[in-house]
Amino acid sequence: MKLKSKDLLGIAQLTKKEVEAIFRVTEDFKKKKRTDKPLSGKTLAMIFEKPSTRTRVSFECAIYQLGGLPVVLNSTEIQLSRGETIPDTARVLSGYVDGITIRTFEHQKVVELAKHASVPVINALSDFEHPCQALADLYTIYEKKGLSGIKVAYVGDGDNNVTNSLIFICALMGIPVSVASPKGYQPKQEVIETAKKLNPKAEVAVTADPKAAVMDADVIYTDVWVSMGAEAEAAKRKKALRLYQLNNALLGACRKKDYIVMHCLPAHRGDEITDDVMESNKSVVFGQAENRMHVQKAVLYFLLGGKDAN
Ligand code: CP
Ligand code: NVA
Repeated sequence: MKLKSKDLLGIAQLTKKEVEAIFRVTEDFKKKKRTDKPLSGKTLAMIFEKPSTRTRVSFECAIYQLGGLPVVLNSTEIQLSRGETIPDTARVLSGYVDGITIRTFEHQKVVELAKHASVPVINALSDFEHPCQALADLYTIYEKKGLSGIKVAYVGDGDNNVTNSLIFICALMGIPVSVASPKGYQPKQEVIETAKKLNPKAEVAVTADPKAAVMDADVIYTDVWVSMGAEAEAAKRKKALRLYQLNNALLGACRKKDYIVMHCLPAHRGDEITDDVMESNKSVVFGQAENRMHVQKAVLYFLLGGKDAN
């Protein structure tokens, strides 16, 4: 079995077996059981239409450590910003490089790039999904808690890329997830339906009550209230989401002693998460960020190396 898709556009493209295979290879790379350079001579173009710290640096380090070369393309510096089309960009880059990552706004752009590129395309965050983040999140949960018998709670903006990918990967892996968000910021119906298609037994609960969501959770997750591109709505969002902050009062409602706190970062301390919680011994956010690199090595290994996922 190879990864069934040429690309990684979203979690919904993966199977449970493929995620497990990605995690096995991740572990080998992370624990340095593998120190070879399986992507020697391969080149990865990385298009950014939004800022990035983790995604950019973790992908650059990942491809370099596997023997390859990253080529970072800020969209303002390439002809895409002067009207060259996505299909033309896809075809040109496919003549030079072995894979392309793209961070952009409309998910459809990622889909279009993949359609016209002959090389693998990896979604490095679109407005709809952030699959590399979700893989690193689940790998972190696997490391800290294992994947059986656990429950995940997400508190905050339930209608963004990180939440969508988290819901999909939890559904795929059979992990119950409870999302607490106010009306207007809850997951879209199509996301719940896709989760059910991925796994008819998926347990995805949506509530407006953050205490109810965290009560029996083993993992408590949040993301920014104002995603990149939504800055014009900042004041409205901060008002609507103010009761959905990970703080000690809310976490006090969790009945589990050994729960962990996660955040994809960057964090806006004082908004969706307090300093206390970020710095507490429950917080695994920096290990979670590190895992982006280890997981993405496995993704690159399968997609650019053309390796069998079995
Ligand atoms: N979590 C994440 O994708 O971070 P960056 O925006 O810094 O890449
Ligand atoms: N939801 C956030 C994630 C940042 C990694 C955003 O899109 O800005």
